[in-house]
Amino acid sequence: MMSGTPPPRRVVVAITGASGAVYGARLLELLRELGHETHVVVSRAGALALQQELGIEARALGQRSDFFYSAADVGARIASGSFRTHAMAIAPCSIRTLAEIATGVTSSLVTRAADVMLKERRRLVLVVRETPLHTGHIRRMLEASEAGAIILPPVPAFYFHPQTIGQMVDQTVHRILDLMEIAHGFGAAWDGIAPADRAGAGA
Ligand SMILES: Cc1cc2nc3c(=O)[nH]c(=O)nc-3n(C[C@H](O)[C@H](O)[C@H](O)COP(=O)(O)O)c2cc1C
Repeated sequence: MMSGTPPPRRVVVAITGASGAVYGARLLELLRELGHETHVVVSRAGALALQQELGIEARALGQRSDFFYSAADVGARIASGSFRTHAMAIAPCSIRTLAEIATGVTSSLVTRAADVMLKERRRLVLVVRETPLHTGHIRRMLEASEAGAIILPPVPAFYFHPQTIGQMVDQTVHRILDLMEIAHGFGAAWDGIAPADRAGAGA
């Protein structure tokens, strides 16, 4: 390995049945590009969303990951805290999956692996996608956040002037990588508004 290159990490990626399967698929692509070991699990509804939104079968992600698990396989290695992993992202994360994580009542490998992240005090990023939100949804986010999860709804930042949907997706995926503490050189960090652009804004 070249000096200065970050060590490869074991990273868990889950895709659940919310809109935005592209976030998980793109995250997986970039993790592979960065040379990390990827462990992927897709819920049944996540497989539906992958098919509906991207036209791909969940098992196709098996070919794009190092390890691919069935969501029913609660005996898989990522269900145990003794299997050392660096971080996990659920992208997108449905309200149903969020609620299971918030309560700790885990019924699948997706939510069990997420629960492991929380109990082992590892990074867990939840790309929660629903709109509008009722009070119960917001409470579940608060509970998950209090347990240690990072709630990262896929909300675009227009100050980067995205020109394509791909750029909007990437901006969110780069933030997911940041929050998983995965070093990357993708995208630029916001550097503040240039003084010349402040003129007339009263700033
Ligand atoms: C195409 C499609 C889009 C959906 N979008 C959302 C969504 O954006 N957010 C959400 O919370 N649920 C959404 N749902 C509903 C969830 O998929 C459903 O609640 C499911 O039981 C979630 O299961 P999971 O958390 O195991 O993936 C969607 C369902 C489908 C089929």
